Amino acid sequence: MTVDRLGYLGFDASDVDAWSRYANNTLGMMTAAKGKDSDRYRLDSRAWRLAVHRGEADDISYAGFEAADAAAFNSTAERLRQMGYQVTNEPDDLKADRGVIDLVSVIDPSGVRIEVYYGATELFEVPFVSPVGVSSFVTGEQGFGHIVLATPDLEKSMEFYVAGLGMELSDIIDWDLGPGGKHKLHFFNCNRRHHSLALLPAPAPKHIHHFMIESASLDDVGRAIDRMERDSRILLTFGRHTNDHMYSFYGITPSGFAVEFGCGPRDVDRSWSVVRYDSISMWGHKFISPE
Ligand SMILES: [Fe+2]
Repeated sequence: MTVDRLGYLGFDASDVDAWSRYANNTLGMMTAAKGKDSDRYRLDSRAWRLAVHRGEADDISYAGFEAADAAAFNSTAERLRQMGYQVTNEPDDLKADRGVIDLVSVIDPSGVRIEVYYGATELFEVPFVSPVGVSSFVTGEQGFGHIVLATPDLEKSMEFYVAGLGMELSDIIDWDLGPGGKHKLHFFNCNRRHHSLALLPAPAPKHIHHFMIESASLDDVGRAIDRMERDSRILLTFGRHTNDHMYSFYGITPSGFAVEFGCGPRDVDRSWSVVRYDSISMWGHKFISPE
């Protein structure tokens, strides 16, 4: 009885208006709601997937992991408590804010607020329409996409996400950053998506390194590259990852961390074995330094 997917993300952003333009016009997300201090965006039939809150951190504020039902939700919360984590039963007003039936929160070993919930709000009566014509985002059973978080204590973070939330290790990449040293990137799955979470065991300026959204077609990715070049800045060129086989590129968000926009990855299945790699990419994903 574990979490089944990454469901939603919240960011703290110093420029929510820039995020609004970026989410709609560059990434192709649909606005779900505009508030005084936060805006919400949709990727699919869910009422919302991304919340951008006015704040100074320009970092991840919370990540919501979804359990299938009350039994999985309760057993995950109980397991975290037995491991010694302080798990907070959130009040009705926050459950209503998130649009979920039940909700707990806990701080992970790297200091990121993790919310575990079940019973999110579906909004089939208001169809998802991308304002820039992204055909669709791949979510559903595989959830939002993925996040990569920096952690100062890989062992503790792994214990939290594997023994606590019930995720499984997919693989490890020895990522050679040249003068930045080598880092053992660890990737974790909780459904067919190769990873919903990756951990970067290195000191980093922000908790989040990047988040990933997956579109249905290569044309969606190509058009996103065009929009990113027009509106913003590309961080890593189009390429294909060694482990999930995703075709993707990376852009810089208005908060300074990155976003990966991709398509066409392979799934993990029951025949999957944990392996390791010496490179993050088969080809491409070349760093573009700012002018
Ligand atoms: Fe990624």
